[in-house]
Amino acid sequence: MNRQSAVARIEALREQIRRHDHLYYVLDSPELSDAEYDALFRELQIQEDIFPDLRTPDSPTQRVGGEPLSSFPSVPHEAPMLSLDSDQTEEALRRFTDRVERGVDNPSRVAWVVEPKLDGLSIELLYESGLLIRASTRGDGVRGEGITENARTIRSIPLRLRDEARPVPARLAVRGEVIIRVDAFDALNERLISEERPPFANPRNAAAGSLRQLDPRITASRPLEVYAYDVLASSGLDVATQWETLAALRDWGFLVNEYPERVADAEGILAYHERLHTQRDELPFEIDGIVIKLDDLTAREELGFTSRHPRWAFAFKFPPQVEQTRIERILASVGRTGVVTPVAIMEPVNIGGVTVTRASLHNREELARKDVRPGDLVRVQRAGDVIPQVLGRIEEPDRERGPAFRMPATCPSCDTELVERGPFTVCPNSFACRAQLKGRIQYFGSRGALDIEGLGEETARLLVDEGLVERLPDLLDLTAEQLVELEGFAEISAGNLVAAIEAASKPELYRFVAALGIPEVGGAVSRSLARHFGTLDAIIGADEDALTDVEGVGPIMAARIVAFFAEPHNAENMARLTERMQVQAAEAALVGGALEGKTFVFTGGMESMSRSDAKKRAEALGAKVTGSVSKKTDYVVAGADPGSKLDKANKLGVTVLDEAGFLALLEEVGE
Ligand code: IVH
Repeated sequence: MNRQSAVARIEALREQIRRHDHLYYVLDSPELSDAEYDALFRELQIQEDIFPDLRTPDSPTQRVGGEPLSSFPSVPHEAPMLSLDSDQTEEALRRFTDRVERGVDNPSRVAWVVEPKLDGLSIELLYESGLLIRASTRGDGVRGEGITENARTIRSIPLRLRDEARPVPARLAVRGEVIIRVDAFDALNERLISEERPPFANPRNAAAGSLRQLDPRITASRPLEVYAYDVLASSGLDVATQWETLAALRDWGFLVNEYPERVADAEGILAYHERLHTQRDELPFEIDGIVIKLDDLTAREELGFTSRHPRWAFAFKFPPQVEQTRIERILASVGRTGVVTPVAIMEPVNIGGVTVTRASLHNREELARKDVRPGDLVRVQRAGDVIPQVLGRIEEPDRERGPAFRMPATCPSCDTELVERGPFTVCPNSFACRAQLKGRIQYFGSRGALDIEGLGEETARLLVDEGLVERLPDLLDLTAEQLVELEGFAEISAGNLVAAIEAASKPELYRFVAALGIPEVGGAVSRSLARHFGTLDAIIGADEDALTDVEGVGPIMAARIVAFFAEPHNAENMARLTERMQVQAAEAALVGGALEGKTFVFTGGMESMSRSDAKKRAEALGAKVTGSVSKKTDYVVAGADPGSKLDKANKLGVTVLDEAGFLALLEEVGE
């Protein structure tokens, strides 16, 4: 394609992608399948790769997250980002509405827009000629942190405003709320926990933590959304009411809440407040009250501002969902990834209409920090759908406290000795601990792992509950006869699952490694490990040093991998798995070269080349380079000042080459 037709094609693709992004992320009514959308997106990426100078900041391809920053710049707001006067009582609300009615010229014109008060964080989005040029957090209200690159990754923020339905002002500053929906929050925390990273306490913290990442790629991986609700400043905008402002924001392509309503008076406000309060737990996002705004913008101007908040708006909050109760006991609960969590079992207490009896105390450190013990009187909070939290204990000077809870030494589910990892306590018996088994089975068969069709959550549950799988390798011995007995299985589906498992039993190395569910080792790292080591035995045999040579593997991950294979139950189950499966060697190790099948270890410095160049030259000839010497090592190349690796080579009788010897070998095999 020549340049001129590329220009047209690129613009057409962007138009289409923008339209489908809007349909998907804002209107929630997609018209394309994922595959169709991906095809458009990929074509645009390819065109932009061919003509890089045609790539513009508002291109949909620019949402993936650029280079990390070292800090956020401080940027001024177009207009002060004020906060809201707030209260939770009906009297305070009536005082507010009375004051407004007294303060405006024409009280008969008073009408209110009522909106959910989203529990997230405020953001300003600045557009010039319809293009997003800056985004910032609220900060002190006058200046905030410039988080433009992070904002670009949020799909519900238009990079370019739509101008079909309504003209776009030359300059426009929009205020909105960054949130994470409750279901996305749960999924995010589940992901963090499975990676053994600390979960967020609530969606608000998750949104704030995700937005304020110096690496925009991390922000891009988080399910953030922005609801727009206000125009902070604009040039040449012609709207008269808040109601119309919301319509304009919708027209320009912003995500705008569907819940706002227009009401006439305090009675209408109270009814809305009550309705949202009852619906609170069913809403897709967390709210902590409602916001009331005078609809008429001219009347707003008559009222003006105090130093901190507008006189025409008010946050009518819900009563706090905090109650007191007593902890009956604390138990240790094993999660799907082996993390053992202390859980407080409490005397039942009603918090905002829901009876609460248990709350996670997260981990050893959290527990020590809060120092809550069985028998203690505690304050418990429930925010929206989120699991109840123990806020802290209430001092009772006259009561003698019981002993502190200690994490058990062995797994409450399988009795394996527990290990400590940072603040977490973990059961290392990954394949045979019943508490972990369902999750492990499901993960084993998931798409990024062995991709076994029909091995979903429900089947995993049945297999474990019915005792057909007691440890992961049992999966491979399942028969159709056994499966037919299970609820929901017929002859065909039973046969299909057995066949799918059989088909997955000769996996590529990286899939097998991914399927093991080693803490922190996801798809990308599994691929690097496979490429680097070539065989499963080499991965299992690698020490921490050798592992850190692999792209994407740091010292913590290396330690996790070594610990995983060293755990006796895991070793036993790995042996059973590999007995039944034929794990394929990885491609990279098979490229036919003169040194194919030979394993090298380099130690000490060389004169004519760097050690990493030496490694590359050997690898280019098909050799495998590892970091540690074993009986399987074919050559140790020792330069100046070699370390203990040379001693080990001599002890094991491995051939040792000096630099000249290595060069001679390269020449001999015809490099
Ligand atoms: S209007 C001057 N509308 O609540 C008017 N704020 O307590 C400014 N908030 O900082 C805000 N939902 O982060 C407005 N529908 C909504 C809101 C909302 C949530 C937040 C906002 C603000 C805080 C004030």
